[in-house]
Amino acid sequence: MAQSILDDDGVSNPSHNRALTDVVEQAIAARPSRRRLLLTGLGAAALPFLGGLAACGGSDDAVAEPAAPAVPPEQTLGFSAVAVASGDSVAVPAGYVATAFLPWGEPINGFAAAWKADASNTAAEQEEQVGDNHDGMWFFGFNATGIGYGERSDEGLLVMNHEYINAEYFYAIAADTDPADWMAPFTFEKARKAQAAHGVSVCHVRRAADGSWQHVKTSPYNRRIHGNTPMSLQGPAAGHALMRTAADPAGTEVLGTLNNCGSGWTPWGTYLTCEENWNGYFGAPTSGATIAPGFEDQKAEILAGQSRYGITTAGFGYRWHTVDPRFDADVNPNEPHRFGWIVEIDPFAPGSKPVKRTAMGRFKHENAELVVAANGKVVVYSGDDERNEYLYKFVSSGTFDRANPTSAANRRLLEQGTLYVARFDAGTTVGDRMGTGVWVPLVFGDNGLTPVNGFNNQAEVLIKTRQAADRVGATMMDRPEWVAANPKKPGEVYVTLTNNNRRGTSTASSNKADGTTSAGSARPPVDEANPRANNVWGHILRWNEAGGDGTALTFAWDIFVLAGQPTVTSARAPSANVTPDNLFNSPDGLSFDSFGRLWIQTDGNYSNAGDYAGMGNNQMLVGDVATKVIRRFLVGPSGCEVTGITWTPDRKTMFVNIQHPGEVGNHPRAPKNAAGATLGDNDIARNATAFSQWPTAGARPRSATVVVRRGDGGVVGT
Ligand code: FEO
Ligand code: CA
Ligand code: CA
Repeated sequence: MAQSILDDDGVSNPSHNRALTDVVEQAIAARPSRRRLLLTGLGAAALPFLGGLAACGGSDDAVAEPAAPAVPPEQTLGFSAVAVASGDSVAVPAGYVATAFLPWGEPINGFAAAWKADASNTAAEQEEQVGDNHDGMWFFGFNATGIGYGERSDEGLLVMNHEYINAEYFYAIAADTDPADWMAPFTFEKARKAQAAHGVSVCHVRRAADGSWQHVKTSPYNRRIHGNTPMSLQGPAAGHALMRTAADPAGTEVLGTLNNCGSGWTPWGTYLTCEENWNGYFGAPTSGATIAPGFEDQKAEILAGQSRYGITTAGFGYRWHTVDPRFDADVNPNEPHRFGWIVEIDPFAPGSKPVKRTAMGRFKHENAELVVAANGKVVVYSGDDERNEYLYKFVSSGTFDRANPTSAANRRLLEQGTLYVARFDAGTTVGDRMGTGVWVPLVFGDNGLTPVNGFNNQAEVLIKTRQAADRVGATMMDRPEWVAANPKKPGEVYVTLTNNNRRGTSTASSNKADGTTSAGSARPPVDEANPRANNVWGHILRWNEAGGDGTALTFAWDIFVLAGQPTVTSARAPSANVTPDNLFNSPDGLSFDSFGRLWIQTDGNYSNAGDYAGMGNNQMLVGDVATKVIRRFLVGPSGCEVTGITWTPDRKTMFVNIQHPGEVGNHPRAPKNAAGATLGDNDIARNATAFSQWPTAGARPRSATVVVRRGDGGVVGT
């Protein structure tokens, strides 16, 4: 959401994908005698999760190698690069087709109201329509019977996040309304409509004979989860005093999930949605001066937390707090504590209640990359996307039962474990942009996480994750966005560090150990892992866990790419794998496919001028992590971000999300008022200079999924 006028922090955004086979392959790479058995069971067409594995038992050496398509090494980037572009369309390589699918407002089922082109749908109607600002997503193929999770590539559940709304096209505007105030007059109905457009859509999708994809609107799997859907709070922080509200005195149930940014998925068939810039929905008009009765004793702690997590008097400008007291942090000081978590959803159980898993910490979660380590522990990596925030991993207490992937025990693996935060050290040589690192546990009682420092139990360590990480000396990063683990090299993991204009740009300061630094306010100097001052272009860092073990406590790291302009030769220079043909800035979404190709999506400055000249609209590139060759695969329409990626198991269909086409931001064609300020009304009916009409000419722009296929039906990217 880098360009949104609602984003007063200037923070951008993310996304991901791979099949279950990849994750399990990591777990068993060191055990070749089991590898063939498991991959065959998982890759087989028949009932892989309903007894398929057990049925294969005993046939270890008798079975064939997996059915995954073989790709000759020379074809790892087997497509012609797409040229940079600044138009209002989606560009893909020669021989590929890209089709918009499931746009904002699409009825989620056969009963929902149709989307209205003047944006006059009500809040109640939006609750039954696909949400706005599509982001992370995952394709869960059906099994052979069509009643559960499996490996089919022709039918399944496409589950996607909806991060936020863009007021400039989300609301209908009366003719006499101030054209520069797209939300006036603001009402409770408008807040509810916005809340309804957040969260998650579960869409039953099916491939037709001609290769196109259809939404099966009659399916009982179709479901919207939004900003007012009841969900459980689970784990060490559930029920803590800081989680209790007047509406929920037990502190165990919360309404809704918000700012659903990147995603994740589990090998037991559930979806993980990540709450990122949730702080922006809250306002604290009196900055706590008139905190609600009953909270006086907690006031100092609550206000410190609001500062550390970026809750301000007016929020990001959504205005919910002006009409819905739940989002007024003076009135409901604990409600913000109930956001900032990873939420687990079972898409195959339409009546199930989503669960906020507090053991994985509270921050601005970008995505959730899950790996099963060789010892069976489940590892979940997640970045905290704000300037100078940290990178985390969670390691489960229990171990994954490979023989019974969807077992009840596996389904509880995210309930308990240890949360770690990363410290990046310079290593033996300073200045070579590589080094070593340590995972520091955030465990009550250890490393200063004690009552004298404001931590009275593990619940408080987790509710105040940022302050805990401050205390243990974690490394401030250039906005950690998506994390992606290499399926071909156990323990190798990548993170996008999208940009940071607050590093090395003024008198140096750091997040204080006592947790009192306001969100994003530090000005750290450059360091080995974040080596550029005013890092406007961003970089991708990777690390290798010691011994290839995701549960290791140490790692070695280096930089995969520093983005930027190759003509720049100063300390700002990009790395050698950036060429005039693959210019990009602000890497954000990041995901490996099962072949080990790294897909890189951008959420950056699309002015195509100055530092960004020649970079055009936001885009998606593919990297060969062995050679470091990076090639552009897709360019999005005007004003968009490209984020969210998933594939069918056969890799012949790729789904990519186009978020907020036509977002005002810094687009050079965004309408201006007489004083030169950006207006950006994108309703073509009112404003002939609206600069995006994607995906439908003549209509206001809509976030949508893009279905990408090869014209010859082949494997995408090869
Ligand atoms: Fe939602 Fe950091 O992107
Ligand atoms: Ca992002
Ligand atoms: Ca070094």
